Amino acid sequence: MLFGLDPSPAHACRVLELGCGDGGNALSIAQALPEASVLGVDASPVAIERGTALADAAALENVRLRCAMFESLTEGLGSFDYIVSHGVYSWVPPPARAALLACVKRCLAPKGIAFVSYNAYPGSYLRDMARDILAYHVRDIEDPQRKLAAAQELMQTIVAIEEPSPFARVLREHMERMLGYSDALLFHDDLAEVSTPFYFHEFVEHAARHGLQFLSEADLFESQMRDLPDSAAPLMAGLPDDAVVREQYLDFFKNRMFRQTLLCHAEASVNRALDDREIERCWIASSARPSEEEEKEEQQVEPAQPPQQTFATPEGFTVTSSEPLVIAALHALEHAWPQALSFRELLEQAIAGTDLEVPIEQAAARLREVLLQAYLARIAQLLGSPPSVAGDPPERPLASALARSQHAAGSHALSSLLHANARLEDELEPRLFELLDGTHDRAELARELDAPPEQVEEALARLAWVGLLQAE
Ligand SMILES: C[S@@+](CC[C@H](N)C(=O)[O-])C[C@H]1O[C@@H](n2cnc3c(N)ncnc32)[C@H](O)[C@@H]1O
Repeated sequence: MLFGLDPSPAHACRVLELGCGDGGNALSIAQALPEASVLGVDASPVAIERGTALADAAALENVRLRCAMFESLTEGLGSFDYIVSHGVYSWVPPPARAALLACVKRCLAPKGIAFVSYNAYPGSYLRDMARDILAYHVRDIEDPQRKLAAAQELMQTIVAIEEPSPFARVLREHMERMLGYSDALLFHDDLAEVSTPFYFHEFVEHAARHGLQFLSEADLFESQMRDLPDSAAPLMAGLPDDAVVREQYLDFFKNRMFRQTLLCHAEASVNRALDDREIERCWIASSARPSEEEEKEEQQVEPAQPPQQTFATPEGFTVTSSEPLVIAALHALEHAWPQALSFRELLEQAIAGTDLEVPIEQAAARLREVLLQAYLARIAQLLGSPPSVAGDPPERPLASALARSQHAAGSHALSSLLHANARLEDELEPRLFELLDGTHDRAELARELDAPPEQVEEALARLAWVGLLQAE
């Protein structure tokens, strides 16, 4: 929408996921958007079977997983508003990559948008270095567990080298990060047989051969010029006014390793001068909270000075403002979280939180500007539809069906209604979670768990905050 397109509203959209694995993403979309319909396709029968069993257990009727190779999908899948292919393009051989993009072109609705992620150069040369070293080390090992153990042992040895040369230090830091990966990620990513990075321009050229064009990065934070050093400005100013070229140089400056690129049909008319008026059609959410130090400082500020306030997200992104409208808007979003507010609701609440007397359209224009910046800085989310999630825990809390089925199947990563991963903490939350089927009131929950009511309230509030409780 910000780029002048008119994509289908999210709440009832048609989604295709290519290379959906066991449906971790597809099922989560289906749960978060009950009126949407989701089709996942993957070549692995085991993964499709596992995902289908989970969808059945969670009674998700709007998702279907189908076992097929991209190469065999020549016709008949239908038309989709959104197509997702995450962690696939770089990990399949050239014919499957071409079949994937051909399928995107064939199945994408005229106003549709596709998401394709892949490993990127130049940063992935570092990844290649680690991959080559590990591939040599595990070359004669067949068993996946032994392969993983051997790879981890070699990485631990390299990480432990005390005084590495500058080049070796870079590798050491990369391997230190890799040692933090889950076994599944290490196995399917860096130990995979095929893992082919691309320069951004190569990927865009491949997409263009299939009648698709670059729209933007999925996370616009990644496409911002603000991280560039001032010294890069003359060079950037001399580049052609071409989004692909400019993005490519951003990768050179940032040494980017991974991309999540949005594509649309080559015929679509894209306006890259981000149009903030579209924000009026969005729902807005933010997990940013006032940082405690600033709250204290605010009390010490002289009354004549405009009080400044800093808000920070749990991921550490911060915004500081002394503008009453901005502070009031951030407080309104803080109180609403995990729910989202429509632009009008947010505008009204922000104005009510100040004693400003400006025409409403002037306040709306300022709020749009601020929200666009907050979105680009990962402070606020702009959503196509509001998540159906409880704000405060309801009297008889009901946890999301998918998360309950995942928990029952022994999974630690649960899909929240915010389409994110959530985990249960402590000893109480897993036991509490099993009782959240909407039939128990809060007093019963405390009795069943033999826990102090305040502790149960606290746990429920946290589960609501991470988006695991359904709206009533
Ligand atoms: C690295 S996994 C990514 C899975 C999932 N998208 C995720 O992010 O967890 C790549 C997936 O692509 C599937 N795949 C590989 N080649 C394929 C092909 N030719 N046709 C269909 N699926 C394929 C694999 O079975 C695997 O599930």
